[in-house]
Amino acid sequence: MSGEVRYSRKTHYCGELSLNNVGESVVLMGWAHRRRDHGGLIFIDLRDKEGLVQTVVSPSESPNSFAVAEKVRSEYVLCIKGRVRKRPEGTANPRLPTGEVEVSVEDMEILNPAKTPPFELEEEIEVAESLRLKYRYLDLRREEMLELLKLRHVVTETVRDFLDRQGFLEVETPILTKSTPEGARDYLVPSRLQRGHFYALPQSPQLFKQILMVGGIERYYQIARCFRDEDLRADRQPEHTQIDIEMSFVDQEDILGLIEEMMTDIFAAAGIEIKTPFARLPHEEAVDRYGTDKPDLRYGLELVDISDLLSQTEFRVFAEVISSGGVVRGINVSGYSPATGGATRKRIDELVKFVSEQGNEGLSWMVVESDGKVKSPITKFLSARETERIVDRMRGRAGDLLLLVAAERKKASEILGMLRERLARELNLMDKDGFKFVWIIDFPLFEYDEEEKRLKPHHHPFTMPTRESIPILRREPLAARAYAYDLVVNGVEIGGGSLRIHDRKLQDKIFHLLGLSTEDIKVKFGFLLDAFQYGAPPHGGIAFGLDRLVMLIAGRNTIRDVIAFPKTQTASCLMTGAPDEVDGKQLRELHIRLK
Ligand code: AMO
Repeated sequence: MSGEVRYSRKTHYCGELSLNNVGESVVLMGWAHRRRDHGGLIFIDLRDKEGLVQTVVSPSESPNSFAVAEKVRSEYVLCIKGRVRKRPEGTANPRLPTGEVEVSVEDMEILNPAKTPPFELEEEIEVAESLRLKYRYLDLRREEMLELLKLRHVVTETVRDFLDRQGFLEVETPILTKSTPEGARDYLVPSRLQRGHFYALPQSPQLFKQILMVGGIERYYQIARCFRDEDLRADRQPEHTQIDIEMSFVDQEDILGLIEEMMTDIFAAAGIEIKTPFARLPHEEAVDRYGTDKPDLRYGLELVDISDLLSQTEFRVFAEVISSGGVVRGINVSGYSPATGGATRKRIDELVKFVSEQGNEGLSWMVVESDGKVKSPITKFLSARETERIVDRMRGRAGDLLLLVAAERKKASEILGMLRERLARELNLMDKDGFKFVWIIDFPLFEYDEEEKRLKPHHHPFTMPTRESIPILRREPLAARAYAYDLVVNGVEIGGGSLRIHDRKLQDKIFHLLGLSTEDIKVKFGFLLDAFQYGAPPHGGIAFGLDRLVMLIAGRNTIRDVIAFPKTQTASCLMTGAPDEVDGKQLRELHIRLK
């Protein structure tokens, strides 16, 4: 080890060598992936960002290199000069792209030794995620991880290229800013210069992108970092990246159309062909049929309402729910019953338990047997006609398992939605069909906050009501719909947006309905409303979760896999140790005293 590199230039990437390079003299630099001593010869698989190549060191051909190679251990950084040759007959490795060649080493230098890594960097080896996150630099050396980062790069490049061609301007917006209206908790940054004042990190660039429209930008986008202090899940991180878009002088159709083209390009760049136009589902229908506004359309298991069949029923449980305005709904799990060797009684009991854990509701079941008879703990409470009509409505055939929930409408959908998802996972119904895109449209403008006993916006307070909804805003606010849309793929919400209100009078009316005082509004959004007085164009937009999109394309289950340095469930970074305590002096400068 000289400290000085003898060869200043790497001539090739390890992973790109092939029979075309046979006979060439090459200088390679990379990491010792594996070293094997084979009766006199030392084999070192050298790895760089393009892959692996086998190098061979022979004591007779290069005694100096051999002496160096004897010292090499896993993950040492090496520089190797050598000649590419075809591997001897019968020793090619078809699993390796460079498997037909090897590099016979003429000179070798250790650029840097390495400690023994805390886990092996082989793909097949299972490693605890916490260890991978702590030593992320080692984890990223695994081919799989590198491929994910490359995919993410391809997606952002494709987005930039597409939007550039469509006349969009990429504009950056501030990170130190004021609270934005996405409804999550803010991350706050104390101001040193203004005692007792705080910046909020943006939950999205929402307000700035609208102001950019007032600023005449017309077509804006940004690959934007967003910060939300919410409970974390597999598809939620405290900071995530959005493909954020806003346009002026457009309607909903323009936006949906543009996005379908963009998605086609993105997926094509990843080698996946998708079909447009995407399916569309009104929000209410999505919840009624799939029990969620993020339905996975790769499988059926649709919810069926049977309340009307039971209006006269003597079965108390159902009758009570129906008379208090609730519903009875069910799912037909086709062919999944004891009768077909599918679900056992024990399995059914587990499903019943699962439902009761979700909020104390009961789950009733019926099995359609081969002779058409129905086996169920509840048939004795139902008339034969009721049972028959239920089976009929739910298209129950021999061997089917019918699952029924009686509850308040939203609750029933929610429970069946969860059940539907769980069953599909367990029965492996979802892997077949690639990507199912669906636009969820016609969102409600408002929802009712039971706790605070008032309306709140379903998206944010600048969302434009549909034309038909404007006359009923005051009278029937909960029936009002918005020009708002989400894009859902395989049950994951990858994006959402809306047309925005640009008319001051309408905006005031909405604020009023939301019970926001003029003072509140001034403090929170005054700057936006000020801007709107100077000629705001009609505008709208959308934002996509880049992390989720890449996760889906890559077929992964968590966005942590597609983020170079993600955080854990408790929002910490295991590598840097953030969040961390800080110096007393720093706190004093920020006028902060800890309790
Ligand atoms: P929304 O809040 O729906 O809309 O966010 C847009 C998309 O961002 C992704 N996303 C997240 N991804 C990972 N971790 C998170 N914590 C997280 N939160 C959101 C989702 C989501 O669909 N300003 C509006 C958009 C607009 O109206 O134009 C907004 O932020 O994929």
